[in-house]
This record gives sequence, structure tokens and C-alpha cells, in this order.
Amino acid sequence: MISKEDADTLKQLSAEEGLKFISTKFSEGIVFSTSLGQEDQVITDIIFKNQLPIKVFTLDTGRLFYEHYELLSQNNSRYKIKTEVYFPESSDVEKYVNEKGINAFYHSIENRKECCFIRKVKPLNRALENATVWITGLRSEQSENRENMPIIEWDDERKLFKYNPLIHWDYQEVLEYLKENKVQELSLHKKGFISVGCQPCTRAIEPGENPRAGRWWWESSHKECGLHTH
Ligand code: ADX
Ligand code: SF4
Repeated sequence: MISKEDADTLKQLSAEEGLKFISTKFSEGIVFSTSLGQEDQVITDIIFKNQLPIKVFTLDTGRLFYEHYELLSQNNSRYKIKTEVYFPESSDVEKYVNEKGINAFYHSIENRKECCFIRKVKPLNRALENATVWITGLRSEQSENRENMPIIEWDDERKLFKYNPLIHWDYQEVLEYLKENKVQELSLHKKGFISVGCQPCTRAIEPGENPRAGRWWWESSHKECGLHTH
């Protein structure tokens, strides 16, 4: 369990100290979801370098960039610890694609949300079964929805603690950690991609644009896929 005092302690600790602290508090069920983005590469590096008892997993939607697979493979070689990969149910994807179309997510917000639900949210729910703590790479400056997220909170729907060790980091701190620790990252970042999701739903951004402007760029609605909203 995480008490109010523990939560206050976490606020004072660095991400590395916090991840170690969490690892001493729970004997099992700590999991980290990585999208292989820059924030997640920081957390992955801390977990694997310290050999913390945390399961690292990624959701392969079937629509990722080639560069995601390249980095996943590089991570597996570098750290000698495997990131687990979760896939969507084949029957869900087949039904959606055959009834609606291979790129139906461009046609309506409902179609887009359904695709995210099938390819991301359902596999996430499976990956979180029996989890006690879910670690993410969320940062508060990423979006309005994330602005007031605490470093740790009880998720009553999922019955677990959600821990966001980088919630108060700014982008510069992420870049500095990656550089100082020579952490590999998606080669897409050098081509103007900042926040990266599935290939058909992400594009590069112009300097000065909001970092999430390249996600579901054809929509003006909230740019979330449902992983972090209820
Ligand atoms: S999203 O909701 O817009 O897709 P974003 O790309 O900002 O999320 O990533 C925020 C956090 O969600 C990541 O740090 C990671 O914990 C989780 N996440 C997002 N996409 C994936 C994925 N494909 N696999 C695993 N975790 C993911
Ligand atoms: Fe489908 Fe796009 Fe959502 Fe990926 S980001 S699951 S391709 S709608």
C-alpha cells in the first residue's frame, strides 16, 4: 500500500530513487508500459540498469512505425532483459478492418476511438491484470488533461496505483537524461517527430508547434486515445 506519507516522500525523490522506493513497497505486480518514446526510454533505462523487479511491456497495435521495432530490438540487445509485447485480439481487428476498412479511423472520431480501444486499450487492460502499480511516462506539460495529474494516484477503476515518475520533468530534462546516459531513442525524433504513436495517426511537427500536434492531426478533439482517460 502507498500511504499519504509515501506519496509525499515520492514527491521529494528523483525518478530513480522513486522507482527504487516503489520496488521496495510491493513484492509483486509492478508494471511499466512503454510506448518507446523518449520519456519511456528514460524509465526503461532506470529500470533495466538497476534490475528493478518491474515488468516492462509495450502494446504492439499492428500499426506502429518500422522504427519502433528497430528500437525494441536494440533495447532487448542492450539491456539483456526483454520487453514483453502485447497484441490486440485478432478477431477484434479482423472484424473492424473487414467491416469498416483498413484506415477507417480517418472517417470519424467514433471509428478512431474504436480502433484505439481494440488495438490499445483492450490489450492494456490485459497487461494490467493482477498489477498493483502501473508506471507510465506521462508528463504534466504534455497536455491539458495531464496538467494536474499527481505523481501517484489510486486508480479505483483498475484497482491499482498509477505512478508517473516523470510527471514534473520538462522536455529538456528528458533530453539531458538521454544524452548523459547515452540512451538510444527512436530515429524518428531527428525527423521532427516528438510525440509518436501509430504510423497512420502521427506526423512530424513544425518548430514551435505543440508537441502533440502531430497526433491524430485531422481531429480537433482532445488528443487522447483512451489509455489515460476514463
Ligand atoms: S497516448 O495516450 O497519447 O497514446 P502517449 O504516447 O502520450 O500516450 O504516452 C503516454 C504513456 O502512455 C507512455 O509513457 C506509456 O506509459 C503509455 N503508452 C502509450 N502508448 C503505448 C504503447 N503503445 N505501449 C505501451 N504503453 C504506451
Ligand atoms: Fe488505430 Fe490510430 Fe489509434 Fe493506432 S492511434 S490504435 S492506428 S486509431
